[in-house]
Amino acid sequence: MTDTVTAAMDRNMAIEAVRVTEAAAIAAWGWTGRGDEMSADAAAVEAMRAALNKLNIDGTVVIGEGERDEAPMLFIGEKVGIGGPKIDIALDPLEGTTLTAKANANAMATLALAPHGGFLNAPDVYMEKIAVGGGLPDGIIDINASAMENLGRVAEAKNVNVEDLLICVLDRPRHQELISDIRSAGARIQQISDGDIYGIIETSQPHSRVDMYLGSGGAPEGVLAAAALQCIGGQMQGKLLFRNDDERERASKMGIDDFDRVYGINDLASGDVIFSATGVTDGGLLQGVQRTASSAITQSIVMRSMTGTVREITTRHDYTRKSEDKD
Ligand code: FBP
Repeated sequence: MTDTVTAAMDRNMAIEAVRVTEAAAIAAWGWTGRGDEMSADAAAVEAMRAALNKLNIDGTVVIGEGERDEAPMLFIGEKVGIGGPKIDIALDPLEGTTLTAKANANAMATLALAPHGGFLNAPDVYMEKIAVGGGLPDGIIDINASAMENLGRVAEAKNVNVEDLLICVLDRPRHQELISDIRSAGARIQQISDGDIYGIIETSQPHSRVDMYLGSGGAPEGVLAAAALQCIGGQMQGKLLFRNDDERERASKMGIDDFDRVYGINDLASGDVIFSATGVTDGGLLQGVQRTASSAITQSIVMRSMTGTVREITTRHDYTRKSEDKD
């Protein structure tokens, strides 16, 4: 069975994953700059679900839009596909709903596929995250150590001063102390308004100036970011953050019993993982959708952990030859 899954993850599945994120990105693009996060998200979700349901897989959404009772579509546990190998799916059809609503940079549609059991079954709670790019000694980051210590270790490994490091952090009031710790250590900070999957991928991009990602964001986004880093290299740790007993109870139901556990990158995403993202708005990683009355041009990145292959795909969708809901 594993051989069947590996064969299925091979070659064709990467292009299938791109079709899925392209569909979600094009649908979300229609809501760019309209100040309506919910409609943008709903359009992306619906388009992604329709595209997933055309794939020859026996797919299960493991990281989705929320738990069954709170998400009408692509909820955790939802089955997708028309049958085939058992594939687990992590998705965020629109990463950056506010970015899209405000027509700001870096909104994208994201999807990751792995053989069954490849993703942490994480509830939709917050996760503390730390990530660095590839090429650094194993074990260099420690989520339980102070920001200052992690900065010192990375600076030493890179043979630079802490003052030379650029750390990406989500701009949130809850990060006030973290931001002041990073500043006290002397490093620079790139504060992003949203989109920590992008922020984490940035640490591993060949020409990126971002040395480390620190701070808390969504746990689902943490799993997706880990899937991407498994493909392009890099190290990451995550720790689930629970705000109340209800969140702990939801986590328990998903099999999580150690609430203080540090998840390494292999606990978050493992096996032969494929990660795909398509730009909705222009950003540092991807160009956004470019639409005319009769066509759309999309830019996507798709990568695979087994081979380390990263493909950047620009697609022209010609609506004079196919309807808009055809991929
Ligand atoms: P959405 O696309 O769901 O709006 O998420 C955007 C995002 O910035 C994520 O990248 C991040 O993980 C999360 O929100 C942070 O949550 P919060 O906005 O509650 O701080």
